[in-house]
Amino acid sequence: MTVIPTVLPCKRKPATETFYHDVVQGLSAPQKYLDPKYFYDATGDALFQQIMQCHEYYLTGCEMEILSTQSDQIAQALQKYAGTFDLIELGAGDATKSMHLLQTLLDNGVDYTYFPIDISANVIHQLEKSLPEKLPGLQLHGLNGEYFHMLQQANQHTSRKKVLLFMGANIGNFSITAARSFCQQLRQYLQPGDLLLTGFDLKKHPQVILNAYNDSRGITRAFNFNLLHRINRELQADFDTTKFAHFPTYDPGTGACKSYLISLEEQVVHIGDHLTVSFAENESLYMEISQKYSLEETDQLASFAGFKPVARFFDRKHWFTDCLWKCV
Ligand code: AVI
Repeated sequence: MTVIPTVLPCKRKPATETFYHDVVQGLSAPQKYLDPKYFYDATGDALFQQIMQCHEYYLTGCEMEILSTQSDQIAQALQKYAGTFDLIELGAGDATKSMHLLQTLLDNGVDYTYFPIDISANVIHQLEKSLPEKLPGLQLHGLNGEYFHMLQQANQHTSRKKVLLFMGANIGNFSITAARSFCQQLRQYLQPGDLLLTGFDLKKHPQVILNAYNDSRGITRAFNFNLLHRINRELQADFDTTKFAHFPTYDPGTGACKSYLISLEEQVVHIGDHLTVSFAENESLYMEISQKYSLEETDQLASFAGFKPVARFFDRKHWFTDCLWKCV
């Protein structure tokens, strides 16, 4: 049984209070879950960097191949469909992939401003420092904050057409239903003729996908366990990670790749002084979805949300695609 405190413990910072609230909500649900956005503390960021280096985790390499070998074609498509534009990137990170496109556009003499959006102030600060050094002549305006709020801000800084980049298969971390409403929401911040370039991990042999979320060095397991360690540290909890197993699953029918932690025994976990959470033996804790798509499903998503697919770019193996959609 999960006991929900009637009075929330006070004196936490607002961000920690929100984290606590979300954890309580997730661990009180019939199917226990944690919000994957909390994976990314400093340790989680570092582990994710390591995941991207794992040979089993093919996604990063595939998309990097697309951007590094086809930036010319992507740039041509952007110019063809948008004419004059500014470029906005959601969740820019260190911009390693988009840098190829930024460079090609500069080489082609395209006059544009790059607006990277990221939730991390540190990321934006680093980009503002390093990108103009790496890409002389780049006009950059960093926006630190939540996607939709920052998109609104970006709209106030440009009257040009907008090309929105949402890469890295981040869309896969939404269920199909959530991806639909996310794309519909994005569409509301755009005008007819604006473009969206989104990365999708495609359906492929199920074993290849499962291996990507169960690498042999155990980095993805550590990435999942890190969220329990984070809850221990920030919310004074006592998860014992030796009592949980990392269990990724993939359903080739639906394309849903879901990661769970499985409780290895009946146990009780304390979160702060006021909350206890019971786990039955073999009970699952749902951590994350990484949805895989067919090409038809990407097209369906586009038209559902008010876009028209105009171009697709693939890696050599056709494991990944960056889709270019135009707002209708
Ligand atoms: C960030 N996102 C696209 C990654 C994915 O593939 O779903 C997160 C991840 N989780 C485990 N490995 C990678």
